[in-house]
Amino acid sequence: MRRAKISIIGAGNVGATCAHWCAAGELGDVVLLDVPQTENMPRGKALDLMQASPIMGFDSNVVGTTDYNDTANSDVVVITAGVARKPGMSRDDLLSINAKIVTNVAEQVKTSSPNAVVIVVSNPLDAMVQRAFQVLGFPSNRVMGQAGVLDTARFRTFIAMELGVSVEDVSAMLMGGHGDTMVPIASCTSVGGIPVSQLISDARMAEIVQRTRDGGAEIVSLLKTGSAYYAPAAATAQMVEAVVRDKKRLIPCAAMCGDEYGVGGYYVGVPVVLGSGGIEKIIQLSLTDSEKAAFQKSVDAVKSLVASMESLLKA
Ligand code: NAI
Ligand code: 2OP
Repeated sequence: MRRAKISIIGAGNVGATCAHWCAAGELGDVVLLDVPQTENMPRGKALDLMQASPIMGFDSNVVGTTDYNDTANSDVVVITAGVARKPGMSRDDLLSINAKIVTNVAEQVKTSSPNAVVIVVSNPLDAMVQRAFQVLGFPSNRVMGQAGVLDTARFRTFIAMELGVSVEDVSAMLMGGHGDTMVPIASCTSVGGIPVSQLISDARMAEIVQRTRDGGAEIVSLLKTGSAYYAPAAATAQMVEAVVRDKKRLIPCAAMCGDEYGVGGYYVGVPVVLGSGGIEKIIQLSLTDSEKAAFQKSVDAVKSLVASMESLLKA
């Protein structure tokens, strides 16, 4: 059986760590690509990972490159290329720089891997996946963004820490954009099948939700030199696995929502079924009035981010 080919664009912290999880999980052969200015950095990281394989016992091939020819006909392409926000940079600076980077990457992926499922990770996520979709011209089921798996993992971790139970027993769902306006769905959050409202007070849950919303910033404030990468890379590898192993995982992803939830043509975090066809289904939950209002606020924030991106790209 042919192994899946997984190309990861951007060999920085998230990209290289995602390559690590994908190779160690034998999800397929991995190509790690970065810009030519990095010279041999992706080759060095790929070789280092390959040399871990006899010790850890995995059989994936890992190649580092700066040439898109090496990524040709990938089954899955992960886009982590971009810059993180630095002191003195505005949100619009980041939006404008990363929109140009994602545009350039998507143009290359469009011709080198025309049949790939594309998973965007670069920030600001909801706008970057919209941009990749515009440039790629692929069907929307084959273009998606990673945010919800990470945000839900943070939420599940904090709930498990609060109760002193295994993370394996915590099940949760979050919707909306990546960041301040994400929407936890209380009715879909349980521990060992018990609704979380029976275990944690509303006041304490509100604090846990806020910590989840601030999850990325909390890591940045601790690391000081960059943003989170272990959990973001693991979240992305879980999405890659769902596609290459046709797992039909029901997880939150940034998906193109047309009529779904009345979004009207934007990428936003919703529960989906993820398999070899990419986003095979968007699950439509019935939300409470307050969840609907919070989701609408999140969708409005995504729309305004996309509008800013489009005007910055025109300028
Ligand atoms: P990093 O700075 O360690 O790596 C980014 C890499 O992208 C660098 O190696 C850089 O050379 C490369 N790059 C820049 N322009 C490129 C281009 N045109 N083509 C190919 N590669 C290019 O950053 P890190 O920590 O890996 O984060 C990457 C992105 O992912 C950032 O935008 C970050 O904000 C985002 N992120 C998103 C998360 C999510 O949940 N969606 C979570 C964590 C990070
Ligand atoms: C995070 O949530 C920075 O988006 C990144 O950690």
